[in-house]
Amino acid sequence: MAETLNVNLGKRSYPIHFGSDLGNEVRAEIARLAAAGRRAAVVTDRNVLAAGALQMMADDTPVLAVEAGEGTKSLDGLGRVLDFLAAQKLDRGGALFAVGGGVIGDLGGFAAAAWLRGIDFYQVPTTLLAMVDSSVGGKTGINIAAGKNLVGAFHQPRGVFVSTDLLATLPTREFAAGMAEVIKYGLLGDAELLTRLERAPLTVTSTDLLAVIRRCCALKARIVESDELEMSRDGGRALLNLGHTFGHAIEQVAGYGKYLHGEAVGIGLCAAARLSQKLRCIAMTEVARTDAVLAAHGLPVRLMEPLPLADLVAAMSRDKKVRAGLPRFVVLRKIGEAATRAGVPLELAESAFREVGAAGQTLL
Ligand SMILES: NC(=O)c1ccc[n+]([C@@H]2O[C@H](COP(=O)([O-])OP(=O)(O)OC[C@H]3O[C@@H](n4cnc5c(N)ncnc54)[C@H](O)[C@@H]3O)[C@@H](O)[C@H]2O)c1
Ligand SMILES: [Zn+2]
Repeated sequence: MAETLNVNLGKRSYPIHFGSDLGNEVRAEIARLAAAGRRAAVVTDRNVLAAGALQMMADDTPVLAVEAGEGTKSLDGLGRVLDFLAAQKLDRGGALFAVGGGVIGDLGGFAAAAWLRGIDFYQVPTTLLAMVDSSVGGKTGINIAAGKNLVGAFHQPRGVFVSTDLLATLPTREFAAGMAEVIKYGLLGDAELLTRLERAPLTVTSTDLLAVIRRCCALKARIVESDELEMSRDGGRALLNLGHTFGHAIEQVAGYGKYLHGEAVGIGLCAAARLSQKLRCIAMTEVARTDAVLAAHGLPVRLMEPLPLADLVAAMSRDKKVRAGLPRFVVLRKIGEAATRAGVPLELAESAFREVGAAGQTLL
């Protein structure tokens, strides 16, 4: 039986369903749409298709499987999905199911936002990252040459189906990358969750996997409900960027693809903990806890190779979340509580970066 959590956004409210095998629930939703004369279509990627995830869909639902990977979250990729929706003659009553990781959720969601000025869409996340993060909250979009996620729309799904059986085929490295976001939730809003993760690493076979994912979704839902369109400068959705100002800089300077997003965020969390300590918000013991829990989940806690510090700091000050030259960072007040902090001297952030550097980092 599926458990459900509601994301309360007025007319845009929707349920997140949780279960270990939600095939029946997904097929029932498609049947319900069909009974109302509405057609469904699926967008996925080739890895997810090869992994067998589409067995949970109704047999006669048309499927587009695009190439896997971040490169597909592009104008080209968007064109392919829109052409598919056109070929299927999906009308305003149609509904698109995005079955895949964050790439497919972002791309499919944006295509659904744009097709006929907006049709319904459903998220069926197949990566841990997508289950705890990208499938909830309504941010959709693609990348262009000028940068990642620069083009997009807020378009909330009609429903999210978190079916943990789909994680069985997910590569270990991808699971670990998703854990960085899970650990992020513990650090920013749920001390008990962090303690749970410290007790024993969470794995795909952990009996409480579903409960942990649900907890992350509940935290994200609460934050999204308070700040749907990311308008709040202090708190709100900005808190979800804990570790991300550092992490985005790492991804960018190392060259996209070198680190998985979650891996860069993990190192970013180590840097954010150090920055918080330098600002006298937390103690060194909490910094050590942050490093230890990330390492226990198979994540790097130091840069894999030296990167020029000046480039990292420059990338960080260009981050779209750092407005008007005034660096705003998300810092830890304690384990389980985060806050935004304005006017943080860049030297402090630089010194936090130096401490998570690879061997030889200080030479650069
Ligand atoms: N919208 C948001 O709020 C939000 C939040 C965080 C991240 N994102 C976006 O999410 C994307 C990253 O998502 P991701 O980490 O899920 O990456 P992804 O979608 O690229 O998936 C990672 C890899 O795993 C494969 N895969 C997915 N599910 C699988 C399964 N069950 N079995 C086997 N292989 C599987 C994919 O084909 C891909 O190769 C980025 O583009 C990022 O910008 C969006
Ligand atoms: Zn992230």
